[in-house]
Amino acid sequence: MTIKVLISKRKIKRRIKQIAKIINRDYKEKSLHIICILKGSIFYACDLARYIKVDVTIDFMKVSSYGSSTVSKGSIDIEQDLSETIEGKDVLIVEDIIDTGITLSSLIPILKDRNPSSIRITTLLDKPSRRQAEVNVDYVGFKIDDYFVVGYGLDYNQKYRNLPYIGVVNTSD
Ligand code: IMP
Ligand code: MG
Repeated sequence: MTIKVLISKRKIKRRIKQIAKIINRDYKEKSLHIICILKGSIFYACDLARYIKVDVTIDFMKVSSYGSSTVSKGSIDIEQDLSETIEGKDVLIVEDIIDTGITLSSLIPILKDRNPSSIRITTLLDKPSRRQAEVNVDYVGFKIDDYFVVGYGLDYNQKYRNLPYIGVVNTSD
């Protein structure tokens, strides 16, 4: 198996800084409650939060949409719920990648029911060609073609999350 670099460490950093700048402008005078969707989003959430200048609080949620295969199940299970209420908070959901859209389109109504003041979504990667359920994403890092990618939080059977870049997996060799 080989991994080819698709988005370099330098490009990721530059783009995250740009997104943080827009978020800083959009949330001026507000505070931001980041919900990091485990596990894949931890790297993006940490790096993004570093460049955010408004007050930030962070919580985590683990939802499952993929098992050890690369085929989506069609709905989600909450494996680990948030530790704090989101009522009245300006929530920013931080995702690693939006693929079919099933995870977020199932999760958003659940979170809206908890009465946050607002909910926005940021994803580092977006694979629009595979979309099955509509998701309104507010801040997208990179749109990518239909590749299975790893690194910067993203895994293949739990491996490669620690790669500093986004790479494309080639399993045929
Ligand atoms: P969705 O529900 O199909 O949008 O899938 C979202 C989740 O699937 C992401 O948060 C990832 O955990 C996982 N996923 C989708 N595409 C990839 C990929 O190319 N590499 C690694 N994980 C992926
Ligand atoms: Mg994920």
